[in-house]
Amino acid sequence: MSVSSLLSRGAVDILEELQILTAKTMEKVEITKQYEVIRELGKGTYGRVNLVIHKARGTKMALKFLRKKTTKQKSFLQEYCISRYLSACPYIIGMYDIAFETDEFYVFAQEYAVAGDLFDIIPPQVGLSEHTTKRCIYQVALALDYLHNRKLVHRDIKPENILIFDKECRKIKLSDFGMTRIAGTTEKRVSGTIPYTAPELCETSKHSGFLVDYSIDVWAFGVLLFCMMTGNFPWEKALHSDSFYYEFYQWQKYKNANVPSQWRRFTSHALKMFSKLLSIEPEKRCSIKDILWYFGKTWLVTKEESHPSEAKNNNDVFVNIKPQGLPYLNGNTLDSNKSDTSPSLSFSSCSSYEDVPKESNANSILVSAPIEICV
Ligand SMILES: Nc1ncnc2c1ncn2[C@@H]1O[C@H](COP(=O)(O)OP(=O)(O)O)[C@@H](O)[C@H]1O
Ligand SMILES: [Mg+2]
Repeated sequence: MSVSSLLSRGAVDILEELQILTAKTMEKVEITKQYEVIRELGKGTYGRVNLVIHKARGTKMALKFLRKKTTKQKSFLQEYCISRYLSACPYIIGMYDIAFETDEFYVFAQEYAVAGDLFDIIPPQVGLSEHTTKRCIYQVALALDYLHNRKLVHRDIKPENILIFDKECRKIKLSDFGMTRIAGTTEKRVSGTIPYTAPELCETSKHSGFLVDYSIDVWAFGVLLFCMMTGNFPWEKALHSDSFYYEFYQWQKYKNANVPSQWRRFTSHALKMFSKLLSIEPEKRCSIKDILWYFGKTWLVTKEESHPSEAKNNNDVFVNIKPQGLPYLNGNTLDSNKSDTSPSLSFSSCSSYEDVPKESNANSILVSAPIEICV
């Protein structure tokens, strides 16, 4: 399928042109001459993100370093240009017009998110309050809708890629467009599985191709929502061999009344929303904007009972963060020994950074970085 039939010609032109122009104008820079390095904000196999001060301007910014050994220039340009293309959205990380190289790295500059990423503020096995969750996830929904309206699929939705500017999540921004691709293109699956990976991808054999589709993000969004409200993953992998997933699968497929224990804390409205987001069949999964209606409903059973005032205030979420008129909307067997608690989010060894090369060859693209789960 041609790229132009999937993305409006204008957008393809802009993205391609941006990449060509950036490649032409990219200079070699000696970091310490232009930037004062303050500290490391994140680190991985592919590189790192540093907080720096631009010496000439005095501006604090985040520099993302991608190691040349593991990242091709084309991939770097793609990530940088897609990030720039999307950065006009208030719910997507801002970009400076700065991309350069050093002997070892390709580098670009981003707006600095002062409070870090969402993973660090989700209390393990407890989760965030319904109010904070709604405030945060609403902004993530708008960011994803913006992306999807531009025929792009993020493909790596998880708390580590949601940057926050305050612990209450009044202002959050989606980031890390290293895996973002145009919807409808075919990609090879070359890496492992994380709790956010949709079942159809978990089942895909390692080297077979699959179609990049919005439904991948919708699934990950559903898992993210569960994690935020519970402080646990719903499962380790969306595979029948995973007892938590298998229980969920049976429940959804046969619509029996036995709600698995870790889902019992949710109201019927929230469960309806989850079954739309986490529809087993990708073609039946809803679109992100379909769930906006549910923000006016209560999601947690216990919250409503124990904190009626907070439940009453749920609609405030919209008053505070809703931009006028939603500008971006266009229209196996069960393990009998398992505990009632799904896999915990609370482990230090749980990292999105693993010893997997980001790109082992030009055609291989990670579906998602593997994550080590310690139950
Ligand atoms: N602009 C930023 N402001 C603050 N922290 C950031 C910023 N960008 C990245 N980080 C931190 O660095 C981590 C890795 O950055 P990311 O762009 O996701 O790299 P990777 O592609 O290796 O996952 C993030 O999870 C976050 O903790
Ligand atoms: Mg990341």
